[in-house]
Amino acid sequence: QSIIAIVPAAGGGQRMNMSLPKQYIKIGQATILEHTLHKLLSLPLISRIIVVISPDDHFFTTLAIASNPRISFTHGGSTRAQSVLAGLTLVNDDSWALVHDAARPCVTHADIKKLVDAVIQANCGGILATKVTDTIKQSSHQSNIDFPTIIKTCDREYLWAAATPQMFKAKLLKESMLKAKEDGVSLTDEASAIEYCHGQPLLVECQRDNIKVTRPEDLPLATLYLQEQGY
Ligand code: CTP
Ligand code: MG
Repeated sequence: QSIIAIVPAAGGGQRMNMSLPKQYIKIGQATILEHTLHKLLSLPLISRIIVVISPDDHFFTTLAIASNPRISFTHGGSTRAQSVLAGLTLVNDDSWALVHDAARPCVTHADIKKLVDAVIQANCGGILATKVTDTIKQSSHQSNIDFPTIIKTCDREYLWAAATPQMFKAKLLKESMLKAKEDGVSLTDEASAIEYCHGQPLLVECQRDNIKVTRPEDLPLATLYLQEQGY
């Protein structure tokens, strides 16, 4: 069964607050996006990788990796979901789509393989995720006021933090995302579109080093993890 990776890389990286989008920040010898693409390229099972870039991105095509025969690119939209949908239009309905954030360069080969094996074995879509280790409180108000109060402690036994890759049959993912879009439901990952359409994706536990580089303080952490992995 063919697996096509979609890498949303069309974000502006507002929270990183740097002069260039975070996927183009260098860690060691390579940019964050290149580290991410090398991880995906290390799995021969992934036959193609579609990188979704911003229409004003003039940097991607200057990277040597852009000419890799397994890599192509297309233009994304103003939300992550729109960018993923743009990539999905290039994927055959009967392929598996494996969506992985450009901003998660520290994912390991072993964890990607673990997800792919679990999903193919169960013939059901799934995502990488970590068990929540903090004690999670629900607040009485939205968190934008100064000192909201606690109304309850959530039962951690059932809580997971979603990561990527997230892997689904392309047709199911496309239809679920379009349905959510039509109904005005905003999505922060692929699984939530499937859940919205009453699917139950698998949770596949990954290592905690699969962080999303989001804020400046994530950079030293990503650098350390990549160094530990030998990059
Ligand atoms: N992304 C995308 N298209 C968008 C927005 C985000 O392809 N319109 C991608 C980002 O490039 C990133 C991934 O989705 O690889 C996860 O999004 P996020 O971490 O939020 O990245 P940014 O949107 O770039 O950052 P910020 O929200 O801080 O601006
Ligand atoms: Mg964003």
